[in-house]
Amino acid sequence: MIHEAPVPPQSARELLTELLRRGVSVLYLRISRLNSEVLRDGGLRISYGSDHSIEIDGGLVRGVGSVASMETLLKRVNTLKQFEMSGVLLVNSTEGFLNARDKYRATQLLASSGVRVPETKITEDVYVLSETVRAWGKTVIKPLIGSMGYGSLLVTDPDIAYIIGKTWLSHSQPLLLQKYTRSRDRDIRVLVVGDEILGAIYRYKPVDTWKTNVAQGARVEKAPIDTELAEISMRATKTLKLDYAGVDVGETENGYVVYEVNAMPNWQGFYAGTGINPAPKIVDYLLSKLRK
Ligand SMILES: Nc1ncnc2c1ncn2[C@@H]1O[C@H](COP(=O)(O)OP(=O)(O)O)[C@@H](O)[C@H]1O
Ligand SMILES: [Mg+2]
Repeated sequence: MIHEAPVPPQSARELLTELLRRGVSVLYLRISRLNSEVLRDGGLRISYGSDHSIEIDGGLVRGVGSVASMETLLKRVNTLKQFEMSGVLLVNSTEGFLNARDKYRATQLLASSGVRVPETKITEDVYVLSETVRAWGKTVIKPLIGSMGYGSLLVTDPDIAYIIGKTWLSHSQPLLLQKYTRSRDRDIRVLVVGDEILGAIYRYKPVDTWKTNVAQGARVEKAPIDTELAEISMRATKTLKLDYAGVDVGETENGYVVYEVNAMPNWQGFYAGTGINPAPKIVDYLLSKLRK
């Protein structure tokens, strides 16, 4: 397993437990400690810490860290790509993970494959932000890379948006804007593994926020899955080339919209709401792909 956390968080621990239960020999690798090399003969090698070279058949990638610089992100992504170039099967794949991590890229790809998404715009122009809020009304400003609801803002006032935009731009953050598109006080989290929809939960927003993330205190409840929900969730996962995903879906007057697709979802809320633990499913999926 590849992660950046010094101690594996809950979902990662469950994956490790499942791997060990199946008798797989497992390493927990911190991505910051991996070194990639191109050797004199043109061969590729990855080592860990100060010396030994790493030989693995497959890996579950559970985190690349909250990276402060473009250079560090590239280093870590290139390490993952080097594993793949050397024939190591990563779940999720680096391509899939990158598609999902970049929220604008994900939205672009989803829209072009026919998955309904909220109206979305990315800009570096604070006037465009301000005018967009004037035109759209309720507007969500999101970090391009983000999770668990942290950092997203809901604005309705073009002047407040302008001030926020100035601040974000001064920190070299582009402005990712989405029209607020949700007719309920909840959203739906769907868990997909391979060709299977494991289940879904409603996530009800707490009273003091508009966000429905479990990390923001959402209350969860098992949700029914209709054909359209199954179809949109599976299509979103496949479009982003993900092996497994947590798909965030909103309900609107015009049907479902996808807010984002998580390539490294946590599932405490899902597990609590459905009684289904995705860990064995993900491990079975990885092992069956490795045997092919
Ligand atoms: N365009 C939107 N309209 C209404 N609600 C939204 C919109 N985008 C996000 N949300 C709400 O905020 C939550 C967090 O947004 P999301 O894009 O999933 O980011 P994060 O990575 O922080 O989870 C979503 O689960 C949803 O409830
Ligand atoms: Mg989300």
